[in-house]
Amino acid sequence: MKIVVIGGTGLIGSKVVERLTQEGHEAVAASPRTGVNALTGEGLEQALSGAQAVVDVSNSPSFERAEVMEFFETSTRNLLAAEAAAGVGHHVALSVVGTERMPDNGYFAAKIAQERLIETSGIPYSLVHATQFFEFARAIADEATVDGEVHVAPVRFQPIAADDVADAVARAAVDAPLNGRVEVGGPDQYRMDEFFREALTAWGDRRQVVTDEEARYFGSVPGERTLVPGDGARLGRLGYRDWLARQPAAWQKALTVVQEVQPPFIPAGAHAMTVVVEHPPGSPGTPPHRHSGPAFGYVIEGEMRFELEGDPERVLRAGEAFWEPGGDVIHYQDGNARDDVPLRFTVTMLCEPDRPMLVLVEEEELARRRHLRAPRPS
Ligand SMILES: NC(=O)c1ccc[n+]([C@@H]2O[C@H](COP(=O)([O-])OP(=O)(O)OC[C@H]3O[C@@H](n4cnc5c(N)ncnc54)[C@H](OP(=O)(O)O)[C@@H]3O)[C@@H](O)[C@H]2O)c1
Repeated sequence: MKIVVIGGTGLIGSKVVERLTQEGHEAVAASPRTGVNALTGEGLEQALSGAQAVVDVSNSPSFERAEVMEFFETSTRNLLAAEAAAGVGHHVALSVVGTERMPDNGYFAAKIAQERLIETSGIPYSLVHATQFFEFARAIADEATVDGEVHVAPVRFQPIAADDVADAVARAAVDAPLNGRVEVGGPDQYRMDEFFREALTAWGDRRQVVTDEEARYFGSVPGERTLVPGDGARLGRLGYRDWLARQPAAWQKALTVVQEVQPPFIPAGAHAMTVVVEHPPGSPGTPPHRHSGPAFGYVIEGEMRFELEGDPERVLRAGEAFWEPGGDVIHYQDGNARDDVPLRFTVTMLCEPDRPMLVLVEEEELARRRHLRAPRPS
């Protein structure tokens, strides 16, 4: 079944897409990054075409009261209208446990508005209400910090792992619409101040946790049971200590794999050379050339027009990696695709010993091999 996940690139969304795909569904990650914007309506009609269900796990980039209200009201209206037009039969949305118990909170008020629009839309729906994610705990502590101390109320708190939330949302998406809500919370209930005291110690965070009856939670004072689910809630499997033990160390989180390839050959006795290349705005770059071994690059700044023999040219942006196999294949273009900003990239080349790192190709050979070049853009 085709299921469109609005916010499918986010923390919960990417996990929901992964689960639904594993179950054999056509799960589409829809977000501004993939060309679908629920706030402006851009790309919605096309994304929703043929979808049986829409899962909304998007989030507002700003938590400021007016902006968050504008985000959830406008995006939900746009989604529901597009779903009605496309004949989508199930709208699933993720909300927060206790929204209606703390309506003076700007974020909760926006989630209430989102829920009301869904409940009155006439489209079959399921609302999943989750407690705070373990992944969100540091943001809660930072928000609660006053003069270097973390002020937390001694109220009930039952946070949950994002993985367990994603399980519940994915399940709701394939089950029949509830036309109601299901609550999910973590397996353990804590007193919020005690949870944070223990958590900060585990994080190696030296801030003091102050038990404070008047402490605010994102601007509002929660009641004893505001944030915890009622009887009959579904409970996650992973407790906080086990979740924490599974988290990658700081050095592991510091690493992002940008490219993994298998070069066809590495010249015997190769030496490696890393260079930084800077092409000014509009520069056509290096003339067509070859390397004697594979080369691996990364765009630091600007946009590069990249073309290898046999492949259509494409534009690589800052943060993107590239590689070329070296040997016979001609590298046609590495020029600056923009005429207003410079291009800067690095390349690491594995060269044959005693050979230049780059050899330009003669005009006569270029003419002879013209048929090997991909069609030129019109
Ligand atoms: N944090 C908590 O403890 C908690 C607890 C209960 C419920 N929730 C709910 O969980 C939901 C998901 O939270 P999350 O932490 O997974 O969010 P997140 O990681 O911040 O991801 C937000 C997602 O929303 C997308 N998005 C932003 N603007 C959009 C737009 N105009 N149109 C379409 N998509 C847009 C983002 O797309 P890009 O990547 O393209 O920017 C991203 O995929 C939220 O609705 C929140 O209310 C959170």
